[in-house]
Formats: sequence, C-alpha cells, structure tokens
Amino acid sequence: MTARRVLVLGGTAEARELADALAAEPGVVVTTSLAGRTRDPRLPAGAVRTGGFGGVDGLAAACAHVDLLVDATHPFAARMTSHAAAASARTGTPLVVLRRPGWVEGPGDDWRRVPTTGAAAAAVVGSRRVFLAIGRQGVGAFLDVDAWFLVRAIEPPDVLPARSELVLARGPFALDDERALLRRHRIDVVVAKDSGGATEAKLVAARELGVPVVLVDRPPVPDGVRVVDGVVGALGVVREQCGTPSG
Ligand SMILES: NC(=O)c1ccc[n+]([C@@H]2O[C@H](COP(=O)([O-])OP(=O)(O)OC[C@H]3O[C@@H](n4cnc5c(N)ncnc54)[C@H](OP(=O)(O)O)[C@@H]3O)[C@@H](O)[C@H]2O)c1
Repeated sequence: MTARRVLVLGGTAEARELADALAAEPGVVVTTSLAGRTRDPRLPAGAVRTGGFGGVDGLAAACAHVDLLVDATHPFAARMTSHAAAASARTGTPLVVLRRPGWVEGPGDDWRRVPTTGAAAAAVVGSRRVFLAIGRQGVGAFLDVDAWFLVRAIEPPDVLPARSELVLARGPFALDDERALLRRHRIDVVVAKDSGGATEAKLVAARELGVPVVLVDRPPVPDGVRVVDGVVGALGVVREQCGTPSG
C-alpha cells in the first residue's frame, strides 16, 4: 500500500501529540509545519518543515504532495486557518481543523468577553495593575492605557507599555505559581485570550482571588470547514481519509 501523506500545520501541544501518534501509524507519513516564530520549539516525531508557505498559493502548491491537511494551529492563528481553508478548496485536498474547546465561565468567575485585543485595552481603562497574558502579539494595543502591566510571553513582544515588567516563560503554569504571581504583583485585572487548553490556571487563580478577567474571544473557523476538538478526533479523520486501520 502506498503511504498516505499528512501535513499537520502545527504550533500547539495538540499538533505535537497528533504528529507523535501519526508517526507511529502504519501507512502514514507525517510532516509538521512550524511557522518558525519560537526559537527553541518542542519538536514532534516525524518530519518537520519550518517557515511560512508564502500565502495561499504556496500552501496550495504544498497540498499537491499531501493526501490530508490537518490545521492544528493555535485557535488565534486565524490567517493560517483561512489559508488552509482556501488551499483545500482550491486543490481538493481534504482539510480538518483541530481546535481545542474554549474555556467556559463557571461559578465565581468574573469574566468580560471582548472580540479583540483592542476591545480588551478599552476594557482595562481604569485598572491599575494589569496581568497581560496574551502572548507577544497584541501587546501594542495597550500602549495608550495608563496602568502598570505584567506582560508574560514566550518570546519578547516588539513593544512594551511604558510602565511594565516582562516575564518570559512558557506554560502551562501551576496554580500555586499563578496565585502567587497575582498576589505578588497586586494584579487587579487579568487579560487573556480564550485559547482553551492547559493554561487555565491563571483563570482559576483569578477566580479564587476575586480578580476580574477580560477574555478575548477566538476568531471563528471559516464556514464549511470540518472541525474536531481533540487529537482522538483528528486521528479518526486521518484513519477515515487515509484508509488506515483504526487502532
Ligand atoms: N496566535 C497565537 O496566540 C499563538 C499562540 C501559540 C502558538 N501559536 C502558533 O504560532 C504560529 C504563528 O501564529 P500566528 O498567530 O502568527 O499565525 P497567523 O497569523 O495565522 O499566520 C501568519 C503567517 O504565519 C505563517 N504560519 C502560521 N502558522 C504556520 C505554520 N504552522 N506553518 C507554516 N507557516 C505558518 C503563515 O505564513 P505564509 O502565509 O507565508 O504561509 C501565515 O500566513 C502558528 O503556527 C500558531 O499555531 C500562535
């Protein structure tokens, strides 16, 4: 049987888990694509390519060598997801989007959902000490807000608010550490993206300490695209599309 080729658009823990599973899957050859933004990424099993494709045209050209495209990028990597949808529609290469579920507000949470980082910046006006846990992108939206910021990201943002402290760290983070961080810096509002997944300890710590959260909503997945919410679902699609046995 000819091996079936799966291209995983990565940059998330789920993409890595999926590639690790596919590397052990009989009859499947997996390649993970990374954007190349992180200097020292955790690499999955199987082949890895790094760097942008050069827009929809480049990704469509790459699809010619692929039997299935899995978009397992971060829920906020909207451009890549829209490129994947366009390249799949153009070439007929099947596409599945692996999107982990977003977070759900529970008892004791004080969340305000906003559509963009710009709206989040408007929502924190009047706060004094802001924990900005949105990663390196989007920090620029907060430059005009008169507050002190604790900015946490894996890589340094291009810009920082005038009154701020930068913490470079890669999650997930322990609840005890998140609680201590909010207390130590006397944080009075947390700003986060609705990424879902394992980095929710900051939200739990905020709930416990009675700190409000401004949560940026994730962008929608393009209409008509098949979506699964985890690695097991994505593996099922690979087996269905590639005709490999379930196991
Ligand atoms: N946005 C976040 O909050 C966030 C958080 C954690 C991890 N990430 C990961 O970081 C990467 C970049 O995120 P982003 O928000 O900058 O993405 P984006 O805005 O959706 O994509 C911007 C451009 O980066 C390139 N790109 C993105 N993901 C790629 C991939 N997996 N392989 C090859 N090229 C890729 C593409 O360039 P071309 O047009 O040239 O193909 C794309 O047009 C993604 O892989 C994502 O999974 C993002």
